[in-house]
Amino acid sequence: MYDFDEIIDRKNTDSIKHDRLKAIFGTEDVIPMWVADMDFKTPDFIMKQVRERADHEVLGYSFRGESFYQSVISWLKKRHQWEVKKDWITFSPGVVPALTMLVNAFTQPGDKIIVQSPVYFPFYTSILNTGRQLINNELKLKNEKYYMDFDDLKKQIDSRTKMVLLCSPHNPVGRVWTKDELLQLGQICLQNEVLIVADEIHSDIIFNACKHTPIAAISEELANITISTYAPSKTFNLAGMSTSVLVIPNKKLKIKYENYIGDFHLHMGNIFGSVALEAAYNQGDLWLQEMIAYIEENTGLVREFAVKHKDKLALIEPEATYLLWLDFRKLKLDDDELKTFIINKAKLGLNPGIMFGSGGEGFQRMNVACPRSVIKQALQQLESAFRQI
Ligand SMILES: Cc1ncc(COP(=O)(O)O)c(C=O)c1O
Repeated sequence: MYDFDEIIDRKNTDSIKHDRLKAIFGTEDVIPMWVADMDFKTPDFIMKQVRERADHEVLGYSFRGESFYQSVISWLKKRHQWEVKKDWITFSPGVVPALTMLVNAFTQPGDKIIVQSPVYFPFYTSILNTGRQLINNELKLKNEKYYMDFDDLKKQIDSRTKMVLLCSPHNPVGRVWTKDELLQLGQICLQNEVLIVADEIHSDIIFNACKHTPIAAISEELANITISTYAPSKTFNLAGMSTSVLVIPNKKLKIKYENYIGDFHLHMGNIFGSVALEAAYNQGDLWLQEMIAYIEENTGLVREFAVKHKDKLALIEPEATYLLWLDFRKLKLDDDELKTFIINKAKLGLNPGIMFGSGGEGFQRMNVACPRSVIKQALQQLESAFRQI
């Protein structure tokens, strides 16, 4: 059994989550539950491989060998029953850099790119900072569950629409899109020649009876227009390793992407990222199973709390991820007031919902990948803040 209860002091380690509190929240006096990394140790079997590689004491140029590709192939097969070929796999020093590179490589300034808000905020920057037009196909919230709005999507797509950035599973609303939902989206994209960029970074942490379907695994037609991104970073707490992979079955698209990244000489990555990815994907099953069970219990505490305080708070039931989407709309505070309440009264460092765009008003995102005692403390603080209302 792994110990997820251990408190690890991350202060003064240049941790964005722990050492940027003053800059982001204006105070050090908040529990950091924002940035999407974990307060758990990166697993021992990964650290062992990284240390062993460091012990060789020569860190010269390296390439990704056969075992790197095999670890990705076997992971995707095991977790999603998707048989990926070695020559579909390529590299990016992170999923967010990949999004911007893909936007640049496959669309022109002025082209329209679809997102489904509320969504992970770098989706917006990769579109707007590169001079593309943003099309927002906002998700619909019905009975505390989010759905895609296909009618709105069909209305908004036109000949200038070239790409959709799909978040699957979805951060922050926690949906694991069903095969049927993905098929409907995929058909609209096929009919309109829209390229699908599927950010599947959260696809390892799935709850209950939900099943993640890689959209590209649904059919050959969809594989042909889809670029899927994966990384062990969220799953195994390796974000600082800047290592992710892209799966691009369409050879022409893959060559175009590789030419693009090659121009910046960013294709080589770093030795430790490759070693860590391999160790994670080859040896990570048990740790991941235990970690998911731990997150489910943490989520359970927040769920109980939300039920107890249902006049003030609702939990959008997560189907994936350790990021909880909390609905505070019953407090009837505007977003500035809600932010002030969460920081100054509850003393919590959460992500304000409005960061994720339209539909995020009145929400906050809470990261529960931390020891249970931290969750308990956070809920106590929130409870006493509620009492002050
Ligand atoms: C949907 C999504 N994509 C990408 C990332 C970050 O990816 P990377 O660190 O590989 O750039 C995150 C991190 O929270 C995320 O939630």
